[in-house]
Amino acid sequence: MKTMNLIFGILILVTTFISCRDKRDPGRVYMPDMAYSRAYEAYAANNLKQNGINYINYPVEGTVRRGDLFAYTIPNDSNGYKMAVTVKNPLTALDSNQMLEAQRLYNINCAICHGENMDAQGPLAVSGKVGGIANLKLDQFIKQPEGQMFHVVTYGKGNMGSYAAQLDRKQRWMVVQYVKSEQVKGSAAAKDSSSITPAAKDTSSTAQK
Ligand code: HEC
Repeated sequence: MKTMNLIFGILILVTTFISCRDKRDPGRVYMPDMAYSRAYEAYAANNLKQNGINYINYPVEGTVRRGDLFAYTIPNDSNGYKMAVTVKNPLTALDSNQMLEAQRLYNINCAICHGENMDAQGPLAVSGKVGGIANLKLDQFIKQPEGQMFHVVTYGKGNMGSYAAQLDRKQRWMVVQYVKSEQVKGSAAAKDSSSITPAAKDTSSTAQK
């Protein structure tokens, strides 16, 4: 009986020492499914595959989302400004609804400085709060290629900030196309051809570029 007590005593001592090593360590887990959730963290890197499709992975680097325009890679420096002249507007001519949308975007983002008529008579220009605003009705800007305008709207220039955060690539090209179509209205080029409908005038102005 004495030996039994001794063995029991030793067993209890050993168990106590083994089980009470570290309070933060849960020790052996008998039912891991209950201890650890099998749910996946939505934004953590993991390999949750369903029907062979990996839902949570990031897109492959260097790929473009379907329907998206290619990234604009010309750098924001004086060289890039010159190079932008060669960049073509990737959009086809806007239809009347798209043109209305482009006008809306222009009036929200640009008219505060450049004015609804693009003659640098927007509220911030008239109040004198922002200086040096370009009068887009001037010959030099009527002649400015669309790519360079896109460059300026993307990166900003002088007192004008970048509009890359407010307008996505497609919207920026739409606004540029709207500016181009409006610039010729009421200018010498438009007066020469006053009998031509606005739509026909627009195509003739883009054809020159
Ligand atoms: C805060 C006022 C302000 C707003 C808003 C603004 N601009 Fe400008 N913009 C300027 C100023 C100032 C310049 C002259 C920059 C310079 O040459 O120093 C300019 C210049 C330009 C030029 C001529 C660029 C060149 O190559 O010289 C274009 C084109 C233009 N803006 C288009 C736009 C369009 C399109 C928008 C709307 C998306 C817009 N701007 C919004 C202030 C503004």
